[in-house]
Amino acid sequence: MINKKLAKIWHGCDYNPDQWLKYPEILEKDITLMKKAGINVVSVGIFSWAVYEKEEGVFTFEWMDKLLDRLYDNQIFAILATPSGARPPWMAQKYPEVLRTSQNRVQNIYGGRHNHCFTSPIYRDKANEINKLLAIRYGNHPAILLWHVSNELGGSCHCPLCQSAFQDFLKQRYKTLENLNDKWWGSFWSHNYTDWTQIESHCDHGETDQHMGNIEWNRFTTNQTIDFLKEECKPLRQFAPNIPITTNLMCPYTPELNLHKLVKELDVIAFDTYPYWHNDKQSDWDIASKVAFENDLYRSLGNGKPFIQMEATPSLPNWHTVNKIKKPGMHILSSLLMVSQGVDSIQYFQWRQGRGSNEKFHGAIVSHEGSENSRVFREIAELSNIFSRLTPVLGSRVTAEVAIIFDWENMWGIDNCKALHSDKKHYAEMCIEHYKSFLKMNIAVNVIDQTYDISKYKLVVAPMLYMLRGNFAEKLEKFVANGGEFVTTYWSGIVDEYDLCFLGGFPGPLRKLLGIWSEEIDTLYDNQYNSFEIKSKDIKFTKKSYQAHTICDIIHTETASVEAVYGADWYKDKPALTKNIYKKGKAWYIASRSEEDFKDDLYTHIAQSLSLKQTINTKMPSGVIIKERTDGENNYIFILNFNDYDVSLKLGISNLKYISGINIKDSKIKLSAYKYSIFQY
Ligand code: GLA
Ligand code: ZN
Repeated sequence: MINKKLAKIWHGCDYNPDQWLKYPEILEKDITLMKKAGINVVSVGIFSWAVYEKEEGVFTFEWMDKLLDRLYDNQIFAILATPSGARPPWMAQKYPEVLRTSQNRVQNIYGGRHNHCFTSPIYRDKANEINKLLAIRYGNHPAILLWHVSNELGGSCHCPLCQSAFQDFLKQRYKTLENLNDKWWGSFWSHNYTDWTQIESHCDHGETDQHMGNIEWNRFTTNQTIDFLKEECKPLRQFAPNIPITTNLMCPYTPELNLHKLVKELDVIAFDTYPYWHNDKQSDWDIASKVAFENDLYRSLGNGKPFIQMEATPSLPNWHTVNKIKKPGMHILSSLLMVSQGVDSIQYFQWRQGRGSNEKFHGAIVSHEGSENSRVFREIAELSNIFSRLTPVLGSRVTAEVAIIFDWENMWGIDNCKALHSDKKHYAEMCIEHYKSFLKMNIAVNVIDQTYDISKYKLVVAPMLYMLRGNFAEKLEKFVANGGEFVTTYWSGIVDEYDLCFLGGFPGPLRKLLGIWSEEIDTLYDNQYNSFEIKSKDIKFTKKSYQAHTICDIIHTETASVEAVYGADWYKDKPALTKNIYKKGKAWYIASRSEEDFKDDLYTHIAQSLSLKQTINTKMPSGVIIKERTDGENNYIFILNFNDYDVSLKLGISNLKYISGINIKDSKIKLSAYKYSIFQY
């Protein structure tokens, strides 16, 4: 449990009363309406710096004092933010160094938010000063459950201060320029550096092709962001040690930020989520499988730490190209999906639609109309009622026997490399495709990176494991030797963590484990296809032939057996799927990109042979997601229909105790569009 003060599922939102200080009647009404909606927690002070500190050194906290007291009197709790996500104009005017510099080396002028330099000593001092005041003033306030540090950390700054910090970072890592030049393959295009100050971050009018420089810049930016976060946390930990700390993570594919590293500073993992529901290119089920992958990724980041969702829109965003309203039912359904995957809180941006500026048309619980008489408000209130029945779920966990490796540094390597299909490298998409097979089988998955312990899993899946970092190859060998099963694909075992190609044949250090050698790799145009022709005797594939596309790795087996071969082109009959028995375990290599059925059939076979735990062991209709949480004694099953049509399912388990949603009738459940059921057993 995150904080015993509120031992329920948290249902809340960003609340920006500082924008409404001249409207006391609205502030009064807010509390009444929050109670009606069942809101029990609000995030406050996220962008309040200009209200706290109107001019340098002149602070006003009385409005926040009153607000927190009033919330607490009404048993609404607060998550208090530090305001560094945006700054007052006076600060930028007086100290331009706090502003960010773009990759084109032009310093931004004041505007927007998140527009700050993570290195600037002045900005760090300013943030430290206000955080200290907040921690001293509110560290013991009974309403406060959690710190929310800054907002959606991200981006990078290319100012001279950051360049020099980058050079220091490199000095520490490489010690000598000779070492750096060797690792960066400096003789290529005459790039040997003779002074650390010659090394700068990438930019369009300068360096873009020094791949290791680009990757190190991302590693640096991650470190610098963490360093900034640590600085922000210092006064909070010192003056308010009992309040746990989080920050709202955004977008798992954020360039430049390795979230697996960043989260080590946090007590609670929190994330924001704004999916493109009901778009014209994907079905809701496709979107849901991507969202489910992301939810599992965010949860896995915490490695068991408390897990909450911090922002979503209650209805529609305003920054998508097409701002579509979530259809009735989708908000509750997608919120329950997150709960089923481990979150103990659902929160929104934001409570009340603003009157002016950029986000006035963003969805909110209370619209400009101002009352509870809206569809959105009613759905939120309904979700609060559902949550009141879910209190026992609080603190229960998701346990997984399968790990998918999604590794930021590997993604940076793949994104940088000039190879394959330049627009279709699709690393994250491939991780999601493999994930989807497990989602369909109701098998829980953790999404981790190469630095995690893998020994507790039965199966590790690592699509496109291009960059092998640290001792991951050894860890994998040990894992398989001890009976684990490992699946990887084309474009694996290509470079080390310095982006230097392995010599002696791909997949480099995985060659022995996989029992294959990859000699060449072919890329296909969009309308060209190959196929997997099944040769396997023991795998129950449902078809004899499956489509192969985009990337075809031309491999030779060394100790592996051939389970499928290519069906066309000059490499027809060469291996396309191999299996290597390695000591007590098995290592699989999928040589080409494949259609969905192929992965489904392969993973069904692997799941059966490893007896992987399926929440419900029957084939579910497409578009239905089943997830489970457990506290060791009690298990909670969530059944969620992401189709816009009715489905019927037979569960095949008895003794289910009804909690919420549609109940079982004659051992069947009939879920209409976007409906759900929750049971305990
Ligand atoms: C982000 C921010 C919020 C708000 C929302 C709008 O998540 O953190 O402050 O701007 O986007 O969708
Ligand atoms: Zn900077």
